[in-house]
Amino acid sequence: MLWRLVSNSNDIDRFRATDDPWALVTGASDGIGKSLCKVLAKRGFNVILHGRNQAKLSACCDELRNLAPGGKFELIVADATEPTSVGDVVKAAAGKPITVLINNAGYTTGPVQPLLTIDPEELGTAVNIGITWTLQLTRALLPRLVETKPSLILNVGSYAASHPPPFIAVYTGTKGFLQVFSQSLRTEMRTIGHKDVEVQHHEVYFCATKSNGAPENIATPSPDRMAQAIVDAVGSHKGHVISYWVHELLSWVFLFVPEWIISRIAGSVLASKRTDISSDR
Ligand SMILES: NC(=O)c1ccc[n+]([C@@H]2O[C@H](COP(=O)([O-])OP(=O)(O)OC[C@H]3O[C@@H](n4cnc5c(N)ncnc54)[C@H](OP(=O)(O)O)[C@@H]3O)[C@@H](O)[C@H]2O)c1
Repeated sequence: MLWRLVSNSNDIDRFRATDDPWALVTGASDGIGKSLCKVLAKRGFNVILHGRNQAKLSACCDELRNLAPGGKFELIVADATEPTSVGDVVKAAAGKPITVLINNAGYTTGPVQPLLTIDPEELGTAVNIGITWTLQLTRALLPRLVETKPSLILNVGSYAASHPPPFIAVYTGTKGFLQVFSQSLRTEMRTIGHKDVEVQHHEVYFCATKSNGAPENIATPSPDRMAQAIVDAVGSHKGHVISYWVHELLSWVFLFVPEWIISRIAGSVLASKRTDISSDR
């Protein structure tokens, strides 16, 4: 919490040092990813928006052009369930000095049910979206991010990795990967002399996106508020940051609550969303 007193919310501008600064945001056609693009566009970044739906991405680009008329906005369609599609994203980014990579796309629309009943084929999809695709994209763009430094790799994580709840064990596993991967990569870049390639993991608790379905309130901010909090928290210079202040406050409260109680509360919320049980029963 104290970091908020010294954090510089303009720190993102550090990564806009070139004449033609580009950011690449995955899962940019909706939710937090779309809002992150809006915040970056307003701050003067050109943005490549990645997603799987051409029409939605195209509408997002139009919105960004109205918001930031001087900016350049391009879209790339690539299905993150298919790891080889990373090559298409890398091609779209060719020749652009990318200084910000935001790995935001996640396995957000997977089933909410016990592993025992999940179709085994679904597991590959989850791992592809939540782990393999992000890993391959980061590896592919890393040499470019080293060239364009100072640069930023910002991974959008989840409270589920810190307080693993039932019924979304697969999603939780992918987010656990992202958290430890981010921390390790950050240390690694520093150890091999690339301190200027900043790697951050931003932990999100709840956000009123379509995939979450929860109404907006102080603990469940709108995607726009969440995205602003994420970009502002880049100035924390922390490898792992709970970007939105209410979520961080909750994390402090959780320190005094036994983990089984947190899991039970989260479990009862998720039980009401189970995809293997008909809601009209
Ligand atoms: N919302 C929350 O409460 C919450 C809480 C904790 C963590 N998070 C994390 O925050 C991030 C964003 O979540 P969100 O709620 O904003 O998600 P969202 O509203 O479901 O949006 C996800 C974005 O990813 C895209 N996407 C999904 N599957 C894809 C695929 N196979 N290939 C390419 N693009 C794909 C979606 O495209 P379409 O528009 O075509 O669907 C959309 O642009 C995720 O990493 C999530 O785990 C969210």
